[in-house]
Amino acid sequence: QHPGWPAHLGPVRVPAGRVSLRPIRLRDASVWSRIRIRDRAHLEPWEPTGRGSWEARNHTSNWPALWSSLKAEARRGAMIPLVIELDGNFAGQLTIGNIVRGALRSGWIGYWVAKDAGGQGVATAALALGLDHCFGAVGLHRVEATVRPENLASRAVLAKVGFREEGLLRRYLDVDGGWRDHQLVALTTEDLQSSVVERLIRAGRVTLP
Ligand code: ACO
Repeated sequence: QHPGWPAHLGPVRVPAGRVSLRPIRLRDASVWSRIRIRDRAHLEPWEPTGRGSWEARNHTSNWPALWSSLKAEARRGAMIPLVIELDGNFAGQLTIGNIVRGALRSGWIGYWVAKDAGGQGVATAALALGLDHCFGAVGLHRVEATVRPENLASRAVLAKVGFREEGLLRRYLDVDGGWRDHQLVALTTEDLQSSVVERLIRAGRVTLP
């Protein structure tokens, strides 16, 4: 096993309920598929372009292969694939990827939250839990994220947890059928005076249950 995997993180409380993170499970297939097919319009503009239709890519039958490749990456220490739970129910995913150790000690973080759980601080709380884990048990020095400039909700989430803007990556990623510019944001341990969860507690955005 690698530092920080598997992980059960939280909960913290937001007005919508208790937010926690746990490893992906094989039996997440049906809820994962149901939410992603229902929320296509909410998710597709921000996600990497895939092959085949959205329905086919997000069919229940695709989860076992995805689950198994994410778990394999987690076992070799390169990823931390987590489910975001709201009051114990599947509400989205948070993934830490491209974990590199040695003199880099870096990784990226990404997330999505079901539309009906949105706008209530769930992504912000989940991101705070994930970041504290990165800088804690996982032992990273730097975590970065990339976001389309048009993705105002995600940019608001990144700003709330303290990410700094580092620049614009031109035509960086194939998203929603085209090469899209992305803003690069990052946090290093030097940026943090306290844990990210403590920062949100002080800002009145989360409480401890
Ligand atoms: N313009 C400006 N701000 C907005 C807008 C908008 N159109 N829509 C929402 N916001 C703000 C909200 O006001 C809120 O900020 P506030 O608390 O200061 O008021 C913030 O965005 C949302 O915060 P949360 O409630 O914590 O976030 P939520 O749980 O709604 O999840 C997320 C946000 C993850 C972006 C969700 O909408 C989603 O899954 N979208 C589709 C997939 C996606 O974009 N994923 C992120 C890709 S980028 C990356 O992973 C680094």
